Amino acid sequence: MSKMFYVTTAIDYVNGQPHLGHAYEKVVTDVIARAHRSLGQAVFFLTGTDEHGQKVQQAAQAEGATPQAYCDVLAARFQALTRKLDLANDDFIRTTEPRHKAIVAAVLNKLHAQGDIYKAPYTGWYSGKEETFLTEKDRRPDGTFDPFWGEVTQLVEENWYFRMGRDQAWLVDFIESHPDFVQPVYRRNEVLGFLRAEALEDLCISRPKARLNWGIPLPFDAQYVNYVWFDALVNYISAAAAHGDPVVRAALGLQPADPPPATSAPALTLWPADLHIVGKDILRFHAVFWPIMLKAMGLPLPGKILVHGWWQKDGEKMSKSTGNVVDPVAVIDDWGVDAFRYYVVRELDIGPDGNWTDAGFAARYHAELANGLGNLVNRSLSMLKRYREGIVPATSAELAGEVSEAVARVKADLLDHRLQAALESIWSIVTRANQYVDQTAPFKLAKDPGKAARLDEVLYNLAETCRVLAVLLWPFIPATGERIFGQLGLTGHPGRFTATAWGGLTPGHRIGEVAPLFPRRDAPARVLEPRNAS
Ligand code: MSP
Repeated sequence: MSKMFYVTTAIDYVNGQPHLGHAYEKVVTDVIARAHRSLGQAVFFLTGTDEHGQKVQQAAQAEGATPQAYCDVLAARFQALTRKLDLANDDFIRTTEPRHKAIVAAVLNKLHAQGDIYKAPYTGWYSGKEETFLTEKDRRPDGTFDPFWGEVTQLVEENWYFRMGRDQAWLVDFIESHPDFVQPVYRRNEVLGFLRAEALEDLCISRPKARLNWGIPLPFDAQYVNYVWFDALVNYISAAAAHGDPVVRAALGLQPADPPPATSAPALTLWPADLHIVGKDILRFHAVFWPIMLKAMGLPLPGKILVHGWWQKDGEKMSKSTGNVVDPVAVIDDWGVDAFRYYVVRELDIGPDGNWTDAGFAARYHAELANGLGNLVNRSLSMLKRYREGIVPATSAELAGEVSEAVARVKADLLDHRLQAALESIWSIVTRANQYVDQTAPFKLAKDPGKAARLDEVLYNLAETCRVLAVLLWPFIPATGERIFGQLGLTGHPGRFTATAWGGLTPGHRIGEVAPLFPRRDAPARVLEPRNAS
């Protein structure tokens, strides 16, 4: 089987409830996965949960649960979120699954056998809260450590290290010669800046069981579990191996009978991933550790690491303790999944940080979804019902040129993963078509039997524009795309980009039932009585 377009999200820690940040990344990835599907590619979209490590162990303890029982509850919540967000993911990997643990063990064994992993003593300052050793550089000018690190204690430990330092020059070279490897460009510069300024140290990839036991045991030393980040990054290939990916299975020397057995026949060819989508805080893990791990395994590197920014709420960091959070599930229950998907992608380009405000959400809902798109579809199809009994009139191409130009822009934006720009181009069609209604005034044409042919033209252009919009919108707001198709009485699916070609609606076709897509939620403006009316 030929290689699929393989796209992944970060896998979420299950040490808390899913929030806006998690939901945003998953929606962005889903839009990209659906866009590539619509454009005719075979796509594999992976997401999942990161379940080992100190943070999760502590969260379980705080709840008085075993880590596994705790993870099962939380992972179910993250899985429920994927459905709530209408994600079309092909798999959901949990790092506590046997299929993942088997691959982590295979990777560790291979690197150990090659001499890429060695044992050495280490003395250092350790932050239990952030699960990391600190260096002298982490001290503040007064010599203390920032309270962010929690309690910092000195520890002497024997640990296992993965050789990374020797690949520094190779990695700089790779990133320099692959300008698209890390995007946006300012994130790429950040990685290069760091790699040029600092000597890369070998990575400590073990934790003594005495200190942390919620992890994957090192297959060659039972006293230790694997460092959670090493374990977590491997998810991208453990899922591929589970689907029989020949590249990963060969690199790790897995035999057909080795765990995890391939779960699908025929095997899927996934590796290398085409796109890893991650937040800015975990850039270094993906752009430095992961490439060097892959090189050591003898695996090709992913095509691109696309780095998104962080959401704030009302200009401040979201934080559970202050209650300043956006709960995606509550927003979706209130406004619908497509309103949520639309807002996060339209509001925040992939790259910079963003700011959620409830007022901004409601404003976009009303201006762009209710009055813009919803109004266009509703009045276009309602007029077709009223004036032509829902029967599509003769073909006309008055708006075809403008629509096709916008379609070409959307296609280029989608291929480049410029989702916000794609939505802007789609809305240029919405705005143009609403303006066309105002200019042509079909309600006036309908009153004059002599203008029947002109009315036919206008109604065709409007209905056909709605059809094209359904196809363009499908990756972003799939349920809405499907509803527009349903209201147009079309039995096909809006998920094929080629269907944007003008003229898909056939004369004589009868459209379906019309209903508002995005009902207005604000009360109609009240007319206030002048106070001193006399
Ligand atoms: N478990 C690691 C990732 C391992 S990937 C091999 C992790 N988990 S996380 O739950 O903390 O974050 C998951 C993703 O959500 C990350 O890409 C992170 O950047 C993103 N976000 C977390 N909070 C966010 C915002 N406030 N805004 C946008 N995205 C944010 O890191």
